[in-house]
Amino acid sequence: MPRTIAVAGKGGTGKTTIAALLITQLILQNRVPVLAIDADPDSNLGDLLGLQPEQSIGDLREEVLDVMKKLPAGMTKASYVEAGLHQIIAEADGFDLIAMGRGEGSGCYCALNNMIRKFSDDLTPSYRWVVMDNEAGLEHLSRRTTRNVDALLVVISDNPLSLRSAEKIQAITEDLDNRIGHKYIVTNMIPEDRMEVFRRRLETLRIPHLIDIPYDPNLEEVIFQGEPLKNLNGSPIMNTIQTIIDTVGGEDADS
Ligand SMILES: Nc1ncnc2c1ncn2[C@@H]1O[C@H](COP(=O)(O)OP(=O)(O)O)[C@@H](O)[C@H]1O
Ligand SMILES: [Mg+2]
Repeated sequence: MPRTIAVAGKGGTGKTTIAALLITQLILQNRVPVLAIDADPDSNLGDLLGLQPEQSIGDLREEVLDVMKKLPAGMTKASYVEAGLHQIIAEADGFDLIAMGRGEGSGCYCALNNMIRKFSDDLTPSYRWVVMDNEAGLEHLSRRTTRNVDALLVVISDNPLSLRSAEKIQAITEDLDNRIGHKYIVTNMIPEDRMEVFRRRLETLRIPHLIDIPYDPNLEEVIFQGEPLKNLNGSPIMNTIQTIIDTVGGEDADS
């Protein structure tokens, strides 16, 4: 099975950026294929990776519900979903990208959701790594839309509210512990002169602090210019990303 990293935290803390950097570094090291999952309905993981799926899983669910009654002769719901799932996977060199789209809503489309889940679960063993960018509420993780996670990165930034979010994530995930191997705090973009105060605040959490990613003007520039993230190869920020990969992946993910 692949190694799975999920990234969570308050909006604006750097989740999508960190997920995209993890994916980029894995590709640079040829630890491929990587499955990138964009589980934030406000998604832009694809933008950072230069790839966009035509349709999200949420779109597919809506579409299936829509056409269910008028399916072409001989086509079962399952085969329709299967055909659709192949369409929602965007493929690029070294990685594929799936967007979850909007959540399941309150209606129970259980049979349909289970079907989608089964097909996406069947897909994952063929990848070496799975990197998932989550929305702040962790809806997809808590609703079991996803398989087990080896490491959940909870990102905290300078915004004190991100610490509140981390506490909430801590509470939500304590119910999911059997499905999350390790949880780590990743601090991002915290000014040096505030780091000491932050460290003390982090001690109130039950999640260990894995690494601090400093604000990187080069990263900002690369994104602003629309350059590929692989241009950051070997830069200090990629070294911090490498530490995360080493911690989660050990030698690799072949077992
Ligand atoms: N370490 C960093 N150095 C410089 N800019 C960063 C860093 N991390 C994130 N950013 C910038 O911060 C903003 C928010 O990051 P983003 O990944 O979109 O957050 P989230 O996905 O948590 O909402 C983006 O403009 C991103 O380019
Ligand atoms: Mg994001």
